[in-house]
Amino acid sequence: MNSLIIPKFENYVPVSKNCLMKIFGEITFDLFIYPSGKKMLKEPVLLLRKNTLLADKKDIFTERNFAGFFIRKDDVANFHHLIENFIHMLIDDAQMTLQEKSEVIYNCAQHVIQDVFEDPRSGKNIKRAKDITSTIIQFALLDNASIPSLLQLSSHDYYTFTHCLNVAVFSIGLWQSIFPKQEQELMDFALGCILHDVGKSRIDDAILNKPGPLTAEEFDIIKRHPQYGYDLMKDMVKDISLDVILHHHEKHDGRGYPEGLKGEQISDPVKIAAIADVYDALTTRRAYAEARDPFKAMLTMKEEMVGHFEQEKFISFIHMLSGKKRPTSQ
Ligand SMILES: [Fe+2]
Ligand SMILES: [Fe+2]
Repeated sequence: MNSLIIPKFENYVPVSKNCLMKIFGEITFDLFIYPSGKKMLKEPVLLLRKNTLLADKKDIFTERNFAGFFIRKDDVANFHHLIENFIHMLIDDAQMTLQEKSEVIYNCAQHVIQDVFEDPRSGKNIKRAKDITSTIIQFALLDNASIPSLLQLSSHDYYTFTHCLNVAVFSIGLWQSIFPKQEQELMDFALGCILHDVGKSRIDDAILNKPGPLTAEEFDIIKRHPQYGYDLMKDMVKDISLDVILHHHEKHDGRGYPEGLKGEQISDPVKIAAIADVYDALTTRRAYAEARDPFKAMLTMKEEMVGHFEQEKFISFIHMLSGKKRPTSQ
């Protein structure tokens, strides 16, 4: 094992050798290495140029002793886009740590969601969203530590696409703790969570990211996003996903929107997504509010949002976050 300390580079990011070894075909980025045995270099050294067929070159990863692999920061999206095609092979790779797998899955998922928001009507993007959802679920089923490991990667700053991903990860965790046997529905439910705020792609960023309180008019515009999301997705995803997209702002006491549904009129998947949605929003930094720590977020949800959530599921959520299993879970 090489004990060389690799410096951090301003314009490059490290990539996992185990990931590179999965790639079959041409690389879509220049690949750099940091050689072992050398004293501090200012920059990594070019190893393979973009469009090199990697299938012919795999030996270089095993035979030579490189201390680390790098790509340019500008190529990060290209890298993750390519890795998406091989990501299912990472799940069972015994050489990779849970942390390493989490990072690849989380980063790939972020890029997929970003692309979905840019072009929500692209069938290709929705197919990518479905594939990455399936990967996240497979990963979540692999180990109890998978969900916490993914959540650790969440940034404290709020971006709609990371928020959508975090809501999906929290929701998958809560779903598994309440309905451990319903894996078929879990897929459509999780996809709905990933897409829950997709309607915001139709709302002006100036309103979405406004640093102060919203006017009543602006809030009315924001409140259109569930319907926009439903309209965008109605012929592209299944009913459970659409239910989450359209109803995630409904409240248990009937004071939510867009339909003012109440209690049992709200489905179980929606109830779960609604809890995850609010929790993630409270624990990330917004243009108008600092991030709350997990305990304060829970307290806010319990004391200041009375009637917002179904009590039973909210208690299950607290148990899930504290790592305990509810004895009454079905
Ligand atoms: Fe929303
Ligand atoms: Fe949301």
